Parts: sequence; structure tokens; C-alpha cells
Amino acid sequence: MSYEFILTDVRGDGAIKTGVITLNRPKQLNALNDGLMDELGAAMQAYDADEAIGCIVLTGSEKAFAAGADIGAMSRWDYMDVYKSDYITRNWETIRRIRKPVIAAVAGFALGGGCELAMMCDMVFAAETAKFGQPEIKLGIIPGAGGTQRLPRAVGKAKAMDLALTARMMDAAEAERAGLVSRVVPAAELMAVTLAAAQTICEHSLPSVMMAKECVNRAYEGPLAEGIQFERRMFHSLFATEDQKEGMDAFVNKRKPVFRHR
Ligand code: HXC
Repeated sequence: MSYEFILTDVRGDGAIKTGVITLNRPKQLNALNDGLMDELGAAMQAYDADEAIGCIVLTGSEKAFAAGADIGAMSRWDYMDVYKSDYITRNWETIRRIRKPVIAAVAGFALGGGCELAMMCDMVFAAETAKFGQPEIKLGIIPGAGGTQRLPRAVGKAKAMDLALTARMMDAAEAERAGLVSRVVPAAELMAVTLAAAQTICEHSLPSVMMAKECVNRAYEGPLAEGIQFERRMFHSLFATEDQKEGMDAFVNKRKPVFRHR
């Protein structure tokens, strides 16, 4: 399928591969408009449904992962436009419903909706050049795609308030210290390191990968006792898979497991 605002590419050499999505509005620093978000949702759903894909990587350009929602488009809207049509945010929930792991590979600016998009992914790998921020306050608005909710969960109230109220940017090292970012790597190595991690994930049993993601998201979104209960149910259910038999038999017999992802 061909897209206008994104590029797609399948990478890896195993039976299960990585689906890569590259945001591609370079002149606008990957500013996020409805067309781009529709395409992003469609591409993610297509990878999610593809049995040959085990992990998804979302990236941008060297200069920008995404510099936020498209300010030119937003500048023309009034309250009734955004309320009735749910412009901008209407198609963001698609990304949250993706069941396979999604890694954001961030270089350059991840601002406003760009930072919110990165936070919707399961992991953020950052180049040393990455800069994160929620500068919406400078435009007379606030983050509108989860920034005021996910940022405090990721970095705590102190830093979230600082970023949302002063609009300052956080560099990759600070973002890693604060817990927003999983790994920081030199810019030239960002895609290689991210694709290697994705490949490792692809080699694991897909049902257990998907359940691990679901369980960690429970921890992130819900109360502890409920999360523990949910994890227990998921843990028990994995004993019904062929891959659990294979993984444990392989360990006991000192050989590499051959997962069939079922
Ligand atoms: C539309 C954008 C844009 C954006 C950059 N551009 N960000 N266009 N929407 N969010 C465009 C610029 O207008 C410019 O176009 C080109 O990209 C290059 O940007 P420059 O400003 O010339 O580059 P630079 O000087 O390097 O500055 C980079 C920057 C700055 C610091 C990232 O562009 C900036 O502050 N952008 C806005 C960041 C922001 O406020 N994001 C939050 C948006 S609100 P021309 O045609 O002049 O070359 C938001 C709300 C989300 O995200 C809520 C729900 C989804």
C-alpha cells in the first residue's frame, strides 16, 4: 500500500519480522495532521494483523520525530470545528489499541503531539540529539493527546509540570534519567540499535510478548491489586501454549527454542 505522509518497510531476516513506519513530512518537521494520523493508524493496524510481523518501529527524520500537531491546520479551527469533528485527536486511539510491541525511535524534536505520540509507544529509544517537550502552552492551548496524563506517569509530577507550564525542552539524557526513554544511543546508531532490539523481540514467542505488553500496560494504567490478578491469569494461560512447552524443553535440553508463536 502506498501512503502520502508515511513510509513503510519490513525489516529483519527471521520468519517473524519488524514493520517499520517512518513519518514523512520532512518540510514540516513531521507535523501531525489528520491525513498522517489516519495513515499511521492504518499502517499500524495492518502490521498488527500480519502474522509475519512481531514488532513495530515508529520513527521520523534526523531533525524531527515530530514537531507536534500541525499548527497551520489548527490555526483555522474554532471550538465547534474541533468538538464536532474531533479533529486531530479522533484517530489517535488506534495506536493505543495495537497489540504488538511498538518502539519509537526518536531523533531530533519530539514536541507536543510528537512527544505524546512517542509516549503512546511501548518503548522510546532516543538518539543523543532527541529533544522532548510539551510546548502547547506557548500557543494558548494544552497538550491534547495524553500529554498531561502520560508525562506525569512517565517522569513524575515535578518534571511534567515544569515541561507543560514553562514549555522548556528536555534533552535525551534528562529524558532517560527521568524515565521517559528506555535507551539513549549516538544518532548514527539509532536505527541499528532499535532494529536489533525489535529483532530480539521478534525471536521470542509472540503470545508471551503480547501478554507481557498487556500486563505492563495494566501496571501503567490501573491499580496494583487488579494488575497482579490480571498478570496471574495471563501467566497461567501461557501454560496452554505450545511455545511454553518448547521454551522450557529447549532450556532443559540445552538447545535453542524454535517458537511457533502459538
Ligand atoms: C506545522 C511546523 C510545526 C508544527 C514546525 N513546522 N513545527 N508546521 N506545525 N507543529 C514547520 C515550520 O513552520 C517551518 O515551515 C518548518 O517546519 C521548519 O521549522 P522551523 O521553525 O523553521 O525550524 P527550527 O527553527 O529548527 O525550529 C524547530 C522547532 C520549531 C523548535 C521545532 O519549528 C517549533 O517550535 N515548532 C512548533 C513546535 C510546537 O509548538 N509543537 C506543538 C504543537 S501543538 P516553513 O514553511 O516556515 O519552512 C500540539 C498539540 C497536540 O502538538 C494536541 C493533540 C494532538
